[in-house]
Amino acid sequence: MTNIPKKADILFSAYSVEPYQILKDAMKRKKEDIIQELLDSGLRGRGGAGFPTGMKWKFGAAEKADQKYVICNADEGEPGTFKDKKLLTDVPRKTISGMAICAYVTGATKGFIYLRAEYRYLLASLEKEIEVFEQKAKEFGLDFEIKIFMGAGAYVCGEETALIESMEGKRGEPRNKPPYPIQNGYLGKPTIVNNVETLASVSMVCRLGAEEYKKLGTSDQKGSKLFSISGDSPKEGVHELELGMKVSDFVTEYGDGDTKAIQVGGVAGYCIPRKKFESTIIGEGQTTGGSTLIFNSTRSMYRVLHNYLDFYAEESCGQCTPCRVGCQQLLKGIEAVKAGTKPPKYLDQLMKLSNTMNLTSKCGLGQSVTNSFTTIVENFREEMIF
Ligand SMILES: Cc1cc2nc3c(=O)[nH]c(=O)nc-3n(C[C@H](O)[C@H](O)[C@H](O)COP(=O)(O)O)c2cc1C
Ligand code: SF4
Repeated sequence: MTNIPKKADILFSAYSVEPYQILKDAMKRKKEDIIQELLDSGLRGRGGAGFPTGMKWKFGAAEKADQKYVICNADEGEPGTFKDKKLLTDVPRKTISGMAICAYVTGATKGFIYLRAEYRYLLASLEKEIEVFEQKAKEFGLDFEIKIFMGAGAYVCGEETALIESMEGKRGEPRNKPPYPIQNGYLGKPTIVNNVETLASVSMVCRLGAEEYKKLGTSDQKGSKLFSISGDSPKEGVHELELGMKVSDFVTEYGDGDTKAIQVGGVAGYCIPRKKFESTIIGEGQTTGGSTLIFNSTRSMYRVLHNYLDFYAEESCGQCTPCRVGCQQLLKGIEAVKAGTKPPKYLDQLMKLSNTMNLTSKCGLGQSVTNSFTTIVENFREEMIF
């Protein structure tokens, strides 16, 4: 039996109390109660890594410093992801209110929206929204100002420490971790970095309460999530769905009837082939950054993988050898197997290389290459061969 994936209507329209009323109500509560509410809600970061938001804020609140910062990560560079753009276009106040609740809870007095270079057209409308917010903040007695920092188009600058480096005027290269931004972030001060959707979801957890929010999802995955759907789908766009759906149900609703694979979590994510649709729950055991690409049987998975590796080789910041050299070797390697100048078993060596990159690369970019590489090569090996 097919279950249509349950649509959720939390982030865009339902429960539409003015977000600044949510902020005002939150400011009447004890800070530790809000942290507990977030912990109870099970909300995890929507930027890809899935770190529990309540935990991050608890650590941020516990830091002692003369200055703390909140950064809203709106770099949204993952290919196939466009959900944060929609939130910032349609309901920016939910995200801004989430930033302000974070400031109230953690004691931060300065905030930044790190805006993807390609979203420059949103700058004027967001600046207007910030003016509205600043009036409200004055009214509510909240000492918190927000500025917008424009990105310059590098995918790696979505990684939180590279993002901070670039804000400090340096090359956008990831830092060694630890220390994490929560201890040593922007200008060496405690910094809470959250994704646009995470912050909007915080507003909604505060509005609904953890119990109500938790009714959505499964025991493992709570709440709703935005999916940017593209590829061979008659329903391309941003859809808010309850977490915990089977891939088979998702594909029935959003595919074109001929889906052979879907890629969840963008290039950093996983490829799920048709034979695993029934047994796989989207996001279970993996993180989903929000990008969901659908491929039908006319697509060459070799071309898909080639495209991903080309992207990785281009976007690697080059700071560490496993990623800088590994991305190029993987790209050249699959080209050689396809051309017949290397035997098919060379693919096994390449898979080992991608696993080594996972173990030895400095940041999530090089570490995640293996996700798409191994899941595409294992499931579509015949398409990789001459
Ligand atoms: C290469 C790379 C790119 C990333 N790009 C983004 C991005 O565009 N937006 C985002 O929110 N997180 C991105 N992240 C994840 C961030 O480092 C960080 O985990 C996230 O902003 C934390 O927010 P959250 O806890 O609300 O998810 C990226 C990570 C890596 C490794
Ligand atoms: S893994 Fe890649 S992107 Fe990350 S620091 Fe190393 S070279 Fe740069």
